[in-house]
Amino acid sequence: MTRRSVVLGCGAYLPKRIVSNAELAAQLDTSDDWIAQRTGIKQRHIAAKDEATSHLATEAARAALADAGIAADAIDLIVLATATPDETFPATAARVQANLGCGPGIAFDVQAVCSGFVYALAVADNFLKAGQSQRALVIGAEVFSRILDWEDRSTCVLFGDGAGAVILEAQEGAGTTADRGVLSTHLYSDGRYHDMLYVDGGPSTTGLAGHLRMQGKEVFRHAVVKLADAVDTAVKANGLTGADVDWLVPHQANRRIIDAMAQRLGLPEEKVVITIDRHANTSAASIPLALAEAARDGRLKPGHLVLMEAMGGGFTWGSALLRW
Ligand code: ACO
Repeated sequence: MTRRSVVLGCGAYLPKRIVSNAELAAQLDTSDDWIAQRTGIKQRHIAAKDEATSHLATEAARAALADAGIAADAIDLIVLATATPDETFPATAARVQANLGCGPGIAFDVQAVCSGFVYALAVADNFLKAGQSQRALVIGAEVFSRILDWEDRSTCVLFGDGAGAVILEAQEGAGTTADRGVLSTHLYSDGRYHDMLYVDGGPSTTGLAGHLRMQGKEVFRHAVVKLADAVDTAVKANGLTGADVDWLVPHQANRRIIDAMAQRLGLPEEKVVITIDRHANTSAASIPLALAEAARDGRLKPGHLVLMEAMGGGFTWGSALLRW
């Protein structure tokens, strides 16, 4: 028998306020056309002043618990992916743990920016497979609107706020690729690319949170190559091909990057979960938000093969293959 991390449920939370491209174009030298054509983004959700990352994360977690039909105290591990924590310390995961009333247990944050959810999923999967935890809450939550330079049109139009959460449970099974659960995760990092995507601040440098800085064209070029490698590795490592994938649930950074990955796998558009038009890039939250949407509307069904991929600052990147 093999111990595997099986999805029990998922949930999402998006702040109420929606900002359209047209609203941004009223304050910046940009246009709906430019943003939509280059990225696929039409709008984004922006958190209210009194909404911190932990608020968004807690709401997504509550929705995931309700979807799974379990109580908060059944959770013994919380891994929260974020690059926009409430505070320098403690971890936002600990605050969520207190909000849910499910301690004591293990709770910590993972920081891999836009790859954060894939990293957090891999970490939780390894805790469950090792037998150190039984039920994990894996969250991706971001309030990127707080680290954007709202005068820099080349970056501020690209991001949004939100949170998504998935509950995993360790279950014994035969361990074949047909059995439910996380089949594999592949993670990568290459710190030489720091300057292409970073935030110009932090507690041990400027003492301030800083703003996101990005060489968009370079990030795009690297994303297409590195993500293609990550998706190829995911299917090959399991003796599968792109044709076996039921759903590609990619990080939502740019519609053109997503289309390139679908093409690489030979997947038609109908097999790709797209939220970028409505959510923009929500960094670590984008994949769990997309999973929750596709699960809620009935596209994701038990037994479906789901391929996730993401790339972000670091650079970090990776993929995860999951039998839903
Ligand atoms: N509105 C209008 N014009 C703009 C805007 C804007 N919001 N932003 C930039 N421009 C202008 C530029 O100034 C430039 O003008 P110029 O030709 O007069 O110099 C022109 O548009 C083209 O700019 P580029 O940066 O070359 O445009 P590009 O086609 O590369 O698209 C984009 C930019 C959308 C950022 C793209 O490079 C991209 O998506 N890169 C990936 C970055 C990303 O998604 N990062 C997220 C985190 S990492 C990840 O998740 C993969």
